[in-house]
Amino acid sequence: MCGIIGYVGASTSGRGLDVALEALRRLQYRGYDSAGIVAANQDGLSHVKRAGKLEVLEAQLEAEPLPAASAVIGHTRWATHGGPTDVNAHPHLSEDGSVAVVHNGILENHAQLRRELTEAGVKFVSETDTEVAAHLLAHAYAAQGDLTDAMTSVVQRLEGAFTLLAVAADNPHVVVGARRTSPLVVGLGEGENFLGSDVAAFVAQTTSALELGQDQVATITPDSVTITDFDGNLAEAKPFTVDWDASAAVKGGFATFMDKEIHDEPNAVRDTLLGRTTGPGGALQLDELRIDESVLRSVDKIVVIACGTAAYAGHVAKYAIEHWCRVPVEVELAHEFRYRDPVVTEKTLVVAISQSGETMDTIMAVRHAREQGAKVVAVVNTMGSTIARESDAALYTHAGPEVAVASTKAFLAQIAATYLLGLYLAQLRGTMFADEVRTVLAELETMPAKIQSVIDGEGDIKALADSMRDVTSVLYLGRHVGFPVAMEGALKLKELAYIHAEGFAAGELKHGPIALIEDGQAVFVVVPSPRGRDVLHDKVLSNIQEIRARGARTLVVAEEGDTAVTEYADKVLWVPRTPTLLAPLVAVVPLQIFACALATAKGLDVDQPRNLAKSVTVE
Ligand code: M6R
Repeated sequence: MCGIIGYVGASTSGRGLDVALEALRRLQYRGYDSAGIVAANQDGLSHVKRAGKLEVLEAQLEAEPLPAASAVIGHTRWATHGGPTDVNAHPHLSEDGSVAVVHNGILENHAQLRRELTEAGVKFVSETDTEVAAHLLAHAYAAQGDLTDAMTSVVQRLEGAFTLLAVAADNPHVVVGARRTSPLVVGLGEGENFLGSDVAAFVAQTTSALELGQDQVATITPDSVTITDFDGNLAEAKPFTVDWDASAAVKGGFATFMDKEIHDEPNAVRDTLLGRTTGPGGALQLDELRIDESVLRSVDKIVVIACGTAAYAGHVAKYAIEHWCRVPVEVELAHEFRYRDPVVTEKTLVVAISQSGETMDTIMAVRHAREQGAKVVAVVNTMGSTIARESDAALYTHAGPEVAVASTKAFLAQIAATYLLGLYLAQLRGTMFADEVRTVLAELETMPAKIQSVIDGEGDIKALADSMRDVTSVLYLGRHVGFPVAMEGALKLKELAYIHAEGFAAGELKHGPIALIEDGQAVFVVVPSPRGRDVLHDKVLSNIQEIRARGARTLVVAEEGDTAVTEYADKVLWVPRTPTLLAPLVAVVPLQIFACALATAKGLDVDQPRNLAKSVTVE
């Protein structure tokens, strides 16, 4: 759960350091409790590492610049073994200073290796698992004289999930990386090459990249990239072009990435739909879904696996896919899935949803599902990511880079992508007529403009948040597709504003949660459209009256024109008229804006909330 960058260039200059710092800025979402850089040139290795946010390292580098370098590796950390201190920050150097490493992941056998090394006389300085790799690598390098060979022999001794990058003091023209389970991608430049824990590390420099496979070692020099397996045999890596706009990963005038990413939402949905409705007669076409049609027709159950916000997107998708395809859909938190012996067969279609494509819990669940014979479709945002690679097919969400830890635009893009998948299956299996599919697609295409109109009204939502900066508990109620929206709204508030928040199914209220209602308790209620599903609407209206009668302050998300709600609402947040199944795409937006604004009003770090990392690459 850390960010890693490796750079090697033809000349000894300041560029390597600039590239590495730029990469660490873009990678901070992977971890931000400490950061470090090591620069290699003809005089050996120089490094600096500091606990705290990247600015602390940057200030240190400003005060005492590192020398120009031809090779640089850098790291931004989310602590696992050993607290966030200067000493535990990466890079870790060997005792003799001959090599330096940075690491993402967990070395599960580090205690045993540390014991062995200590008995052999090595003095450890940090509490990290990573330091064993630095010492092992130095010993192997001294014996073998080649950094790639040394790395290959060290990784054989490591257990767990890891990405390691290394440089040697006596060879400033090479960076070697290795990956097992944790991510690593290669960026291809002109007279320079890059290694990154994801493409965000180098997208500002190049869009030409290579996906590394499991258990591979990459050796980069200014003009070559060599890939081997862990036995040293030459191996293949798949080339791809990064379709992210580098400018999408900068704040672009917004105060926070989250604010910007909420404003990106109309485009995230538009781009996810783009080019997927071009089949004959306007039929839905999903070119990436390279799974035999007969297999998709024979699917008798769909299981969605995901974590956090991505899982809530799966919950939303369940309502639509079951309705359209008449196939049962289960939604399971990825970390629960494989430990409960789920019933998965060759007729099960597993849909793995992940923004990063690197969430370890989801990766492990994908592997488990495939071992049971299920086909896996990945709905992912990050090209070349592990989940995309390890699945049978990848249906990309085109939300662009999401930097803020709290997921926003990816959530909307995930809903749009899973809806396309549901409609495609319905078309293929004949559970919807072509004109019905086209009607929903046409409605989906109107969603970006509707999302934009909610964003245009953000001033009102921000004012509400401002007035509630001292609130200590907020409840969220929803029904049908509004239920996962309520849970997502609560998650946003918890992670950003550190306020106790819970999302409930509105129908569950009287089975317990209503006991929480007391005078002044703030409750968001996501009200279904009065058109189409009027029974649901009326039931939620009754729920609002029940809680209001007990003193709740009701903050109601309702469809424009739904005048029936105004009487029972302390505040109405209006969203445009939308068919029920598509309503989450607009209903969640005020809740995202509210959480972002409340955290801002409380003076909190919206993009990097405490204790969290964007990409949870450990189990
Ligand atoms: O990258 P993923 O979509 O797999 O991440 C899943 C969750 O870790 C993520 O959605 C998390 O819950 C976010 N912080 C929510 O805002």
